[in-house]
Amino acid sequence: MAEKYSLPPNAESLCNSMRALGYSFQAAVADVIDNSIAAGATKIELISPPIKDPDTAYLAILDNGHGMNRQELIKAMQLACKNPSQKREDNDLGRFGLGLKTASLSQCRELIVISLKNGAINIASWDLDEIKREQDWTLLLLDKEETEFQQIISQLKKYSSGTAVIWRRFDRLRTDTGFFETAFREYLSLTAEHLSLVFHRFLEGETKIPRISMELNGTRIKPKDPFIKSSLSSVQNVPIYIRQGKKPDFKDSVVVKSHTLPEQSMLTESDKKKMGLSGRTLSEDQGFYIYRRGRLIHWGGWLGLRKMTQASKLCRV
Ligand SMILES: Nc1ncnc2c1ncn2[C@@H]1O[C@H](COP(=O)(O)OP(=O)(O)OP(=O)(O)O)[C@@H](O)[C@H]1O
Ligand SMILES: [Mg+2]
Repeated sequence: MAEKYSLPPNAESLCNSMRALGYSFQAAVADVIDNSIAAGATKIELISPPIKDPDTAYLAILDNGHGMNRQELIKAMQLACKNPSQKREDNDLGRFGLGLKTASLSQCRELIVISLKNGAINIASWDLDEIKREQDWTLLLLDKEETEFQQIISQLKKYSSGTAVIWRRFDRLRTDTGFFETAFREYLSLTAEHLSLVFHRFLEGETKIPRISMELNGTRIKPKDPFIKSSLSSVQNVPIYIRQGKKPDFKDSVVVKSHTLPEQSMLTESDKKKMGLSGRTLSEDQGFYIYRRGRLIHWGGWLGLRKMTQASKLCRV
C-alpha cells in the first residue's frame, strides 16, 4: 500500500517564486483595493508620509469596509485561503484567495494588516525575513501596543470598522536616480493615475455600482473616463446583452456597449483631462475595455480580432 507523506511547499522558496508573478506597483495596489471594495468600503485612503529611509518608508491602504476579527484576519493571511470555485458575493472582486499576499509581497518584504471590527483591533504580519529565519510559514500576530503604526490605528478608529494594509521595506522598487524618496513618490503618482482609470466607475458612482472615494495623502483621486461620456460630442450606442446561463433577468449577462469618441480636434482640454490615458495616442487606445463587476481589467487593443487602424481610432467597446 502506498505510504502517505505530507509534503508542504518550502516556505522561503515559494515566497520568492510568488514574488516573480510580474505585478507592477500600481497593479499590486489595485489588487489590494479590490479587497476593500469587496468589504463594502466607501472610503479608501492611501497614506505614505515623506520618509527618506527606504527601510522605514511605508504605504498604508486604509479602508472603512467591514473589517476582520482575529480568526478572519488569520484566515485572510493564509495563502490560497479561498477556493476559486467558491460562490462569491456580487461585489466581490476576488477569486483565488491569494491577491492580498501575492500583490503585497511582490513589492515589499513586510506586509502588516491591521483590522478593526466590533471595537477590537487585530494585527497580523508576514515578514519575508522571519519566514527565511524560521524556514516556516510563521505568521506574526502583534499586540496593538507592539506596533509603530499608532497613527494608522487612530486613523482607522475614525470609522466603525475597517482595514489597513501596510507595505514596508520596498526591496523591489527600481530607483534609477538613486534617490528612494523621489522614485517612491513617482510610483505613488503613477498609482493614483492607474486607480483613477481602473476604478473610474466606482469613483464616478455610476448607477448600480457603489460610489467610493479615494485619496492619496489627503488629495482626492478623480475618475478618468476613457469614453468621456460627459462630452456632448461623444456617441454611446445602445447596449447589447449576451446572456450567460438560463437566468431570465439578465443578471449574469455580458453587456457590450460601443462608444465613438469625438475627433481629436473637437476634444476640449477638460475632455482630455477626463480621459487621461497617460501619454498614449487616441489611436493606441482604441479597442476593447473589459470590466468585471465594474472594475476595468483590460483596456485598449482588439484582442487579435481585428487590426488597430486609423479608421477605428475613435472606437471603444
Ligand atoms: N480590506 C479587507 N477588508 C476585509 N476583508 C479583507 C480585506 N482584504 C482581504 N480580506 C479578506 O481576506 C481574503 C483574502 O484576500 P485575498 O486578496 O488574498 O484573496 P481574494 O480576494 O479572496 O482572492 P484574489 O486572490 O482573487 O484576490 C478575502 O477574501 C477577504 O475575506
Ligand atoms: Mg483579493
